[in-house]
Amino acid sequence: SQYQIAVVVGSLRRESFNRKMADAIVKLAPADFVFKQVQIGDLPLYNQDDDGNPAESVKRLKAEILAAQGLLFITAEYNRSIPGVLKNAIDHASRPYGQSAWVGKPAGVLGVSVGAAGTAMAQQHLHNVLSYLDVPTLGQPEAFIQNKDGLFDEAGNIGEDSKKFLQNWMDTYVAWVKKQNA
Ligand code: FNR
Repeated sequence: SQYQIAVVVGSLRRESFNRKMADAIVKLAPADFVFKQVQIGDLPLYNQDDDGNPAESVKRLKAEILAAQGLLFITAEYNRSIPGVLKNAIDHASRPYGQSAWVGKPAGVLGVSVGAAGTAMAQQHLHNVLSYLDVPTLGQPEAFIQNKDGLFDEAGNIGEDSKKFLQNWMDTYVAWVKKQNA
């Protein structure tokens, strides 16, 4: 059987390092894991008044989350937290009350930043939000990734220096998602 993984990238930037990471790290997964990046850039700003009449983009997001057996968040850190665009997407798919799409979906959390702390604070905040939403998260290994020369090779794959570490992360994630779905 296949495992559908909804990948949520916490950056809308065209040349986003986090999107590059999302494109690259999925190549380290086995063939029975199928990853799909969900689009969050076209979501309206969340407004509770619209709960009864959600935009098409909101319905699409919720359907994609509901169809998945796992989640992978790869996020930028903005001002020591998660970017507003990511929180907006999380809020959208969590509503209306009692109809959250997130419940029980096992999630991995990764992030790339230009700073040495490698999105550690953003990931901490994200863990807090996901915990409230009843999303089990992989605790170890943690991956706080700094963007530097060689993180990606010319073809956009994970570079040699980071390959072993991120392969181990992916192997652990894959085994854990399977266990969560068993
Ligand atoms: C940043 N950046 C940043 N980096 C970091 O390590 N900690 C932080 O708190 C912040 N804060 C922050 C706020 C805002 C508004 C911006 C635009 C940027 C820098 C950030 O790591 C850098 O822009 C990355 O390139 C963002 O990830 P993407 O867009 O490349 O995926």
